[in-house]
Amino acid sequence: MSILSILEPASTTTLRPTVARLATGSIPATVGSDLLVPLADGRVTDYANFDHGASAPCLESVRASVEAALPSYASVHRGNGYASRITTQWYERARAELHAFVGARADDQVIFTRQTTDALNLLAHAVPADATVIVFESEHHAALLPWPAERTIRLAAPASQSEAVTSVADALREAPEGPRLVVVTGASNVTGEIFPIAEIAAVAKAHGARVCLDAAQLAPHRPVDIATLDVDWVALSGHKLYAPYGAGALIGRADWLDATEPYLYGGGATTAVTNDLVVWATGPARHEGGSPNVIGAIALASACAAISKHRDAIEQHERSLLARLRTGLAQIPGVTTYSIFGQEADRVGTVCFTVAGLTSTLVSAALSAEYGIGVRDGKFCAHPLVGHLLADSPEHGTAIRASLGLGTTREHVDRLVNAVRALATSGPRSEYEESAHGCQPANDPRDLQAPRIW
Ligand SMILES: Cc1ncc(COP(=O)(O)O)c(C=O)c1O
Repeated sequence: MSILSILEPASTTTLRPTVARLATGSIPATVGSDLLVPLADGRVTDYANFDHGASAPCLESVRASVEAALPSYASVHRGNGYASRITTQWYERARAELHAFVGARADDQVIFTRQTTDALNLLAHAVPADATVIVFESEHHAALLPWPAERTIRLAAPASQSEAVTSVADALREAPEGPRLVVVTGASNVTGEIFPIAEIAAVAKAHGARVCLDAAQLAPHRPVDIATLDVDWVALSGHKLYAPYGAGALIGRADWLDATEPYLYGGGATTAVTNDLVVWATGPARHEGGSPNVIGAIALASACAAISKHRDAIEQHERSLLARLRTGLAQIPGVTTYSIFGQEADRVGTVCFTVAGLTSTLVSAALSAEYGIGVRDGKFCAHPLVGHLLADSPEHGTAIRASLGLGTTREHVDRLVNAVRALATSGPRSEYEESAHGCQPANDPRDLQAPRIW
């Protein structure tokens, strides 16, 4: 029995979308776009996933690449068998695909990591001991926290894009001598707003500083080009790029990474070992100790290839859905949307909002139980930024984030807007209660147990 048939009671009326799915044109298809989910009133509906910013669904083409790789999956770099040779070529081809995906310079290296957090921690491990790190408080914790506190200058969340550039310039002017690193996100994970990366990089270069771009939120939605932006490193995550197989990457300059101790000691990171001596490898191998996540790398490369091929269509799809969502939410009394740079700023498909009189937890629970919509509520691993954005909304300690992507349709957007309007006007239909498992309708009839799949 499939998961879908487990979820769909034979006799219930399904809430079929009344608006036809957006013509997807040449937008890559995602796995699970026909997922049905139970509602608290006993019906089922198709899932409206507005949580792409956390983890995006797998692309069908990524799944196909992984399935194509599995029959000959074997060790990489160490085997002489046919399957090892094939798998090794795929692994190295994946590295080349990532290199091209971010427009890396010829001597930039691609190190496969677990995700962005791992990539940024790897870079933090390689930052010279006398370096100063400059970072905005508005960063995701993965970009905010890995740097040594005593050598980090934390800048206030900028009020405008030009202020972002000038505050980096001011900080660099006053920073101690020695190496400097500016770490900045491409797009905020809270509001989706795009930071002026090329301008920040230009200022950094004028002060002899290096730049690391956290592209976790930007790369799935907009092109990232290391050479054009003139940044030194890019960090990204496969699971946000429609390749949820556990790989990410740090791409960029080799010198700091070759000069530091390996991230993990072990096989693969060495070129020679005796009882008295270890010669560590240089290049990506130095920091990829242990057997690598080959399937993750293949999945990530497959996603990058598909996304590069369909960039324009993806951007058009997301811009039109985002405009529809923002227009819809703006017309609902009691809904406040939050912004770092102002409502006109360019952004990827993410909206952060609150609803007057309702907690974010209650809104997100009701969106799920009553409308089959998945959003996130909380502080999104960006506590300082959320504190800053909500400073004038004392009623709210947390917010709701709706993040759209390739799995989103116009019907999903309309359903979300209508649901938020109904909640803002009349509140939830049921009483809700908080438990160890989260916020749910009292006497929730839904079976929320994951079906057995092994
Ligand atoms: C901007 C940004 N940076 C870094 C991260 C961390 O990504 P991961 O959890 O894949 O390491 C996230 C995750 O949401 C993010 O949005």
